[in-house]
Order: sequence, then C-alpha cells, then structure tokens
Amino acid sequence: MKVLAVYSTKGGVGKTTAAVNLAWEAAKDARVLLWDLDPQGAATFLLNVKPKVKGGVGALVGGQHKVSGAIRSTAYERLDVLPADASYRDLDLVFDQAKKSERRVAKIIEQVEDDYDLVILDCPPGASLVAENAVTAADAIVVPLVPSPLSMRSLDQVTEFVSESSSRAPVVAFLSMVDRRKTQHRVAVDELPRERKSVIDVVIPSTVHLERMGSERAPVGSYAPATEAARAYAALWQRVRAVVKLRTEAPTPKRKR
Ligand SMILES: Nc1ncnc2c1ncn2[C@@H]1O[C@H](COP(=O)(O)OP(=O)(O)OP(=O)(O)O)[C@@H](O)[C@H]1O
Ligand SMILES: [Mg+2]
Repeated sequence: MKVLAVYSTKGGVGKTTAAVNLAWEAAKDARVLLWDLDPQGAATFLLNVKPKVKGGVGALVGGQHKVSGAIRSTAYERLDVLPADASYRDLDLVFDQAKKSERRVAKIIEQVEDDYDLVILDCPPGASLVAENAVTAADAIVVPLVPSPLSMRSLDQVTEFVSESSSRAPVVAFLSMVDRRKTQHRVAVDELPRERKSVIDVVIPSTVHLERMGSERAPVGSYAPATEAARAYAALWQRVRAVVKLRTEAPTPKRKR
C-alpha cells in the first residue's frame, strides 16, 4: 500500500481538488481510500459522503473504534472515503495527547493495509501536528502551487517542514490554477519546472470545469472527461504513480452496489 499526502502550508491552492481528482484517477485500477483530514470536510462534501464519524476522530485515534467502521463507499468503484466531521477541529490536540504523536496517522492506516492499494491524505493547510502525521505516513508529498511569489515561499516552507520531520518522502509539486493570460503565470510555467527539481511540468489550468466540482459534487473526470482539466489530472496521476511506484493487479470486475 502506498500513501500520498496532498499538502501545502498555504490555504486555498487546490489541495482538496487535487486529492479528489487524483483519487478518482487512481481508482480506475487501484483500490483507493481518501482520508479527509480537514474539519472543513471539503473532500467529504465533493464526493457526496455524509460528514459523520461515530464517536468522533478521537475514538479512531484512541482505538475505541476501528477505522473500517468509519469508512464510506462513494458512487465510484474502488474509491472509498474516510470522512471528516467537526471533531477533526481537535485533531491536533488529540494527536498531541497520544503516544508517538507524529505516527498516529501511519498507525491508523496500517489497519487497512490489506484493503487498499493507495491512501490519499487531504491535509488542512498550515504546519500542524496533523500535517506532520500526514508527511510522516506518506511515500510522496503532493504540493499544488499557484504561480505567485508567495507560493514559492510555501514550497520552501513545505520542503523545510518535510526535512525537519522524520519523513524521507519526495516532494512532488505542480502548478495549479494556472491562467495563461497572466504573464506571471506563463513565466512560472516556463521557468519553475526547470529551476526547481521538485516541480514537475504538469500544469492544472484555472477553469470553470474545476469550479463546477462544488455543484456537481463529483470528480471532474466523471462529468467533463474531455476537458483540459480532466486530462491534466490524469497526467498528474501518472507522474505521481511513477514516483511512488504503485503497481496494481488488473481492475477487478464491476462490483454491484
Ligand atoms: N484549477 C482550478 N480552477 C478553478 N478553480 C479551482 C481550481 N482548483 C481549485 N479551484 C477552486 O478553488 C477553491 C479552493 O480549492 P481547494 O478547496 O481545492 O483548495 P485547498 O488548498 O484544499 O483549500 P484549503 O486550504 O481551504 O483546504 C475551490 O473553490 C475550488 O473549486
Ligand atoms: Mg482543502
């Protein structure tokens, strides 16, 4: 089983959008669990899953409840969600009070090691203990960057945060919400992948097709498969997949729901 953390210190850069679309792409032939670690529950919402965790996330961390009982299936084959609810607001505190506080996420996903090929962690922004947990558990850290001087700072912050943690996972950054009408964005697309080793040359455009995810409550590939956005996430998944060396069996036959 491989683990991806979709993470940035910066908010609103497209982490959740990437987490949901990568999860959907990966689920074409892998068994995927998307863990929503953000109390806002945006990934949970976008995949149309009820934001309810029985006993709260504290019961999962404390071991009173098994993770398998909290997992929900989605409308998509092989794609499940571990939803977030308001109890995730206290997750930093819950981890802080636990033993080996930075390894709790890794410990919890060990419970489902045989059930999934890939776990994607949708992280809240900021340099929290939740983020440290996600980074520690991850085989790769996927970082969306909106072209601006500030986003470069956040890439530096993420790189520093990872290097200060016990994680040795590579950082895979990509440009997100790119508007090629803007000079600054075009310059970033041309220069960043050349200048920064961790920035790959897959570009996610700024587009209404992605904005629509909130009203469709679905991954872009499911309702607008022929768009540049859907193709860009498919390309992003192929690159990330190569980094984490995920291999899967042939897709299982269609499951009835
Ligand atoms: N490429 C894009 N084009 C247009 N809109 C986008 C794109 N990517 C994301 N958005 C929109 O931008 C907003 C922020 O995206 P998203 O929630 O994925 O960011 P985030 O980094 O997860 O935010 P947070 O830090 O709050 O968790 C959302 O309304 C989303 O629909
Ligand atoms: Mg988010």
